[in-house]
Amino acid sequence: MRERGVFITLEGADGCGKSTQAALLVDALVARGREVVRLREPGGTPISEKVRALLLDPANAEMVPECELLLYEASRAQLVRKVIEPALERGAVVLCDRYYDSTYAYQAGGRGLDEALVRMANALGGCGLAPDRTLVLDLDPRTAYARATSGGTDRMEAEGLAFQERVRAAYLRLAREEPARVRLTDASGEKDEVTARLLDALRDLWG
Ligand code: TMP
Repeated sequence: MRERGVFITLEGADGCGKSTQAALLVDALVARGREVVRLREPGGTPISEKVRALLLDPANAEMVPECELLLYEASRAQLVRKVIEPALERGAVVLCDRYYDSTYAYQAGGRGLDEALVRMANALGGCGLAPDRTLVLDLDPRTAYARATSGGTDRMEAEGLAFQERVRAAYLRLAREEPARVRLTDASGEKDEVTARLLDALRDLWG
C-alpha cells in the first residue's frame, strides 16, 4: 500500500506573508523530492473559486455572518473531496494556504459567531479531515494590516484593524490549545529566515 501524504496548512491574519511563504515552502519541499500540491482557500476547484469571488466581492457588504460561514464551508467541502483527499491518497504533500482554522479565527474570533457552532460547521466543511500540521504566521497586526491593504481592500480586509486583532487573538488561543498540531511562527525578519523557521516546525513530519 502506498504511504498516505501529508496535509499542511498555513494560517495567519491578512498581510502576514503567507502567500510568499507558501511559494518558498513549495520550492523547499520539491527540492526534497516530494510531490507538492499547493492550494488556497477559499478556492482550488471551479465551484470553490466562484464561491471565493462571492465572499471577497466588496459589493456583497450586506452578507450576514451565517451566510459567510456556510459559504466558506461549502467551498472547503468541494476542495477536500475533489482535490485534497485524492492528493493525500496518492502520497502527495498538500500545502493549503488557509483551512478551517481561518474559519475559527475569522468567523468565531473576528465576527463573534458562537465557537461551538463554528467548530461543528468546520467538521462538516472539512469532511472530517484535520491537518497534520498547521503553521500560523504571526506578525504585529498593524504591520500586517498596512501591508494587506496597501493595494486596496477586499470585503474581509475592509473590516479594519480591530477585526484583524481579534483574528490574531483567536490564532494565539488555538496555538495554546493544540500545541502538537498548531505551531506559532514568528513572521518578522527576512523571508528566508521565516521559511527556515517554518521548515523547522515541519521537521518531525518526514520521519
Ligand atoms: P486570502 O486573502 O488569504 O486569500 O483569504 C481570503 C480572505 O478570506 C481572508 O481575509 C481570510 C478570509 N477567510 C475567512 O474569513 N474564513 C475562512 O474560512 C477562510 C478560508 C478565509
